[in-house]
Amino acid sequence: MFMVIYKNPLYYEIAFSFVNAEKQVDLFEKFIKKFSKIKVKRFLDIGCGPSLQLREIAKRGYEAVGLDSSSKMLKYLEQKGKEKGIKIETVKADMIDFHIKKKADFVFIMMGTIGYIKNNEDFLKHLNSVAHSLRKGGLYLIENFTLDWLNFKPQSWTMSKDGIKVKTTYRVELKDSLNQIITEKLKLEVNDRGKRLLLKRKCDRKLIFPQEFLTLLKLNNRFEFLGWFTGFSKSRYPKRLSKSSMDNIILLRRN
Ligand SMILES: C[S@@+](CC[C@H](N)C(=O)[O-])C[C@H]1O[C@@H](n2cnc3c(N)ncnc32)[C@H](O)[C@@H]1O
Repeated sequence: MFMVIYKNPLYYEIAFSFVNAEKQVDLFEKFIKKFSKIKVKRFLDIGCGPSLQLREIAKRGYEAVGLDSSSKMLKYLEQKGKEKGIKIETVKADMIDFHIKKKADFVFIMMGTIGYIKNNEDFLKHLNSVAHSLRKGGLYLIENFTLDWLNFKPQSWTMSKDGIKVKTTYRVELKDSLNQIITEKLKLEVNDRGKRLLLKRKCDRKLIFPQEFLTLLKLNNRFEFLGWFTGFSKSRYPKRLSKSSMDNIILLRRN
């Protein structure tokens, strides 16, 4: 049976359960201590999915808000919050153009989700939406897609939880170099206690080249660029990138 990945948050969560949310939130707190000009009480996760990070954030006593376009993902996240006795607010919206009622003090977007914005006009709208949703002096942390765009290697890994085994295969292909579009292919082969399922996702995304990113940021003029940093797998402290890397973080501060 073929199913859609983002409509099956449990299998998605197991596939990516190698993520260490505790360590990631530790690093958020270190970025905040070093760079935020405001005290942080309220976090917003854009394209949150099943957000292990928001669960950790809420557990630490902060306000946690998740924004996603998928109702299934948001319901799943709310349910997980209830099971753990923590409160996670959810907002169903498109990350290109959104508005949240109460501004956040720290905004983040993980796992290269920023690349689902497929043209520069939409990217500028996205920056405006984030600017409206983040208090002045607060940080916007982007876990960026790889900067090594000439070096896409297919990846495959297997994760298991509660008797459910998920083999994930991920690869990307160049689709349209003029518009910097690549096609991402994600496949989950699930063995759910003997029941076998195949989940697939094929999706276009846009590469944002570093110098293009800086120019768009200047054009938007609502954020200060604080730098490129090494990603979560390599770093326990904010550490600046010395060269292009697959695993990388961009840090911005709201003017
Ligand atoms: C790669 S997953 C990342 C999920 C989660 N943040 C993580 O790190 O595991 C991308 C998420 O973004 C959501 N998404 C994709 N396009 C979106 C859009 N235009 N607006 C809001 N959410 C979107 C998907 O539903 C999905 O949950």
